[in-house]
Amino acid sequence: MADYENPVLDRPVSDDMQRDLLSRGYSRRHFGRIATLLGGGVALAQTITPAFAQQSAKAVVGAVRIGSNECWTGPFPAGAEAAMLIVQQGNRYEPDNNHAKLFEAVNQVEGVPIDRITAWPGSSDPLSRTAVTFASPERGIVTADPTYEVLWRTGDWIGAKVTKVPLTADYRHDVKAMLAADPQAGLYYICSPNNPTGTLTPIEDIIWLAENKPKDAIILVDEAYIHFAGAPNAARLAVERDDVIVMRTFSKLFGMAGMRLGLTFCAPELLERMMRYDGMQVINMLPMTAVAAGTASLTLAAQIEARRNEMIAARTMATDHLKKRGLSVLPGSRANMFMVEWKDRTPKEMMAALLAEGVQIGRSWTAYPKMSRVSVGSAEDMEKFCLAVDKVMLG
Ligand SMILES: Cc1ncc(COP(=O)(O)O)c(C=O)c1O
Repeated sequence: MADYENPVLDRPVSDDMQRDLLSRGYSRRHFGRIATLLGGGVALAQTITPAFAQQSAKAVVGAVRIGSNECWTGPFPAGAEAAMLIVQQGNRYEPDNNHAKLFEAVNQVEGVPIDRITAWPGSSDPLSRTAVTFASPERGIVTADPTYEVLWRTGDWIGAKVTKVPLTADYRHDVKAMLAADPQAGLYYICSPNNPTGTLTPIEDIIWLAENKPKDAIILVDEAYIHFAGAPNAARLAVERDDVIVMRTFSKLFGMAGMRLGLTFCAPELLERMMRYDGMQVINMLPMTAVAAGTASLTLAAQIEARRNEMIAARTMATDHLKKRGLSVLPGSRANMFMVEWKDRTPKEMMAALLAEGVQIGRSWTAYPKMSRVSVGSAEDMEKFCLAVDKVMLG
């Protein structure tokens, strides 16, 4: 565990780190940028251009909030209770081996050995950190387009080439085209289910990429929404291979976005490389409330399934309604979001019109400029959304 006597961050840019960065093609002018990114400033790089932040518009209190892919409800009751109980022991950095208990729960549910599990305050830090560690001005980043764009920002920020590859006709990551587009990239990013399309990329496709990419390149599989899909996941790849990182978050189905907890599964050697830049503080000093809630929630298989089914019912109801109104909905979403194309109105116009009706939807993506991303809220949220759409479109 961390040295609790002296919980001060290491100097962000150590001599060792400087040597590492220079040997990978970074120049001295990148040092400050990397220190900003990893020294608690991950959010900064994401918000330099606000359009890239998950929450494209400031949340409107009192509106139906279906713009940011949050869960419509909070943590499972057992998770909330565990968090509340541990508040009473908030005087302790770690009251009772709580990180270890979290890792045991993850091991039990996912079958990932404990030395391959790391907990983070959400998944945004490890997302940007993989870019700094495995990409560089000499080794690029390859992502789908559209996808969750944080790596586009981080790549630009650190001077790495970012290659964006359209999804296949059925909205999978086109792994063959991704490899062909930059065969020497340092990092290939697979977001499955993908944000904003909600579509899955089959594990076999990820295995193909793993077997055909350069040996020293890394695949990051971002499974932020996997619990909503109830589909096979990539955890096993991060157990059997030393070049695949799987990333999870408690911000989505587990309803803990504001509590901040995420996970990575990867070989210890990869983690060691990722943690060169600012010591281990970011992973060893997580808020105990988040750790306790996460531990109590992970194993609740029946409740996870029930929440998934609740989301699917609300999503089906809303998308059926939109289709009945003659709107086209991008098919195949397995997550708490879908994309819809408005007939003769732009996503911006619809966003404003629906907000005037008290419903806040998401934004569009450059690859699909006529479509808006709508997050799936509760059944009641989605009914209000459908009513608002009718009002705006039918008058
Ligand atoms: C695909 C994807 N990955 C990662 C994240 C980061 O989430 P967090 O930092 O809350 O774990 C998000 C947030 O929306 C996301 O959509």
